[in-house]
Amino acid sequence: MIRILSILVGLFFSAALTWSVGLGAYSYVTEPPKETVEEAFHLHPHEPAGGFSFNGLFGKFDNQQLQRGFKVYSEVCANCHALKLVAFRDLKAIGYNDDEVKAIAAKYQIPEYDPTTGEVKSHAGLAKDRFPPVVYAGSGHPPDLSLVTKARHGGAEYVYSLLTGYAEQPAELLKRFPEAKTPDGLYYNPYFANLNIAMPEPLASDDQVTYSDGTKATKAQMAADVAAFLTWTAEPKLDKRKQTGWAVLGFLLFATTLAYMAYRNIWAGKKGH
Ligand code: HEC
Repeated sequence: MIRILSILVGLFFSAALTWSVGLGAYSYVTEPPKETVEEAFHLHPHEPAGGFSFNGLFGKFDNQQLQRGFKVYSEVCANCHALKLVAFRDLKAIGYNDDEVKAIAAKYQIPEYDPTTGEVKSHAGLAKDRFPPVVYAGSGHPPDLSLVTKARHGGAEYVYSLLTGYAEQPAELLKRFPEAKTPDGLYYNPYFANLNIAMPEPLASDDQVTYSDGTKATKAQMAADVAAFLTWTAEPKLDKRKQTGWAVLGFLLFATTLAYMAYRNIWAGKKGH
């Protein structure tokens, strides 16, 4: 009796499963799933023309570029985005001297919470302080940029492509997906995951900053420079990591040669083994 019951229960489940698979296959054929607007129009990030100096096995940061990128960050992006993991004295690693670091820090007011009175006072920045939080009144939430090149797929390429990727919504998109019109207050950008971003185009025209090394500040140049700078903030030890990698490889090669020579030495003259 129990045996028959269990066979019946098994049959019931098999039938239910077959039915639902069949139904799924039928509706897939009669109504194939529609391509979404993101699938159709999202673009993958790409490098600037000429690439980034720090990519590849021998890649290294270019301090001139990092300083230009810092200028773009501090004059444009810092209006909305914080950089809370970076201390002013860290900037020495990209070629600023002590006096320059002090002068940069002194331009910022650092809020300081006094636990005894509960008051928040502020003092002029010192080399040891970190970049202060940014008060942002607009719509959307500008993320802290310290680690953004690690937090997004594509890293520096993504930041570069996002900054240079603002465009009119393609007519074809509106024709195929009339309901996907960019809402008021958002901006079309095919590199952003859902195609509509709350950040207004920050680098909208050439010469928004003036570079002291004579480099022409085109939109693409400023975007590449700030993307490079944000790669440094997220991984300041990148150069060191690559150098160490080569040293380790060299050592392994040496150790392998040594082991091979020892092997030859031990088995020398013992033919037939
Ligand atoms: C007027 C304010 C404003 C300025 C200036 C600004 N941003 Fe933004 N940014 C935003 C806002 C708001 C968001 C959040 C967008 C969203 O989630 O839709 C954002 C998001 C971002 C993101 C994250 C995108 C993602 O994938 O989530 C990056 C990267 C970024 N900004 C980089 C920059 C850089 C680099 C600059 C300077 C060249 C800059 N921003 C200047 C407001 C600003």
